[in-house]
Amino acid sequence: MVHLARRSGLPFSVDFRESLIYRFIDLVAVDGSGIVGWLQGQLEASYRELIDEGYPSPHASIMEMVVEPTRRREGIGRGLVVEFVRRARRERLSAIGLNVMAGSPKEVDCLVQFYTSLGMQKVYLEAVDQTRMIGDLNQICARFST
Ligand SMILES: CC(C)(COP(=O)(O)OP(=O)(O)OC[C@H]1O[C@@H](n2cnc3c(N)ncnc32)[C@H](O)[C@@H]1OP(=O)(O)O)[C@@H](O)C(=O)NCCC(=O)NCCS
Repeated sequence: MVHLARRSGLPFSVDFRESLIYRFIDLVAVDGSGIVGWLQGQLEASYRELIDEGYPSPHASIMEMVVEPTRRREGIGRGLVVEFVRRARRERLSAIGLNVMAGSPKEVDCLVQFYTSLGMQKVYLEAVDQTRMIGDLNQICARFST
């Protein structure tokens, strides 16, 4: 996972002790060549700013997400999010949130298109390279129920 994140230019700063305390879960997509995708999420997150905006608490959050650069646009990222949503719903959470942080506005646009395609909405643009996304878990799953 560290290798994949570094190859993709993500600042990798996972503290595995923190992962246990804050209920992070890691999902990996694997094929014959090894790990081709990774999502780290948190169940029962409760960011104060989001709650102040009327965002339900507790909810689920995506902390990190990366797909092997040579394997993008094959549905791997979508598959990881759908599995994370399934687990969050199993815990009776009703919403999902994340912060998009990227090196350029173009990268932010790309990430916003990815998460929008999954049924999430942009909440507001904090800065040119940051956006917050939220989604209703029932609506996100509904897109994949047929
Ligand atoms: C964002 C990322 C995880 C997407 O993973 P992926 O496996 O390529 O995405 P999918 O194939 O599941 O794409 C699902 C849909 O998202 C949208 N999408 C994905 N990548 C897109 C892009 N570059 N531009 C526009 N839309 C895009 C499309 O609607 C796509 O459906 P389609 O291929 O049928 O048109 C991957 O590009 C990545 O690892 N980016 C770099 C790391 C990063 O910035 N992570 C995010 C931190 S929050």
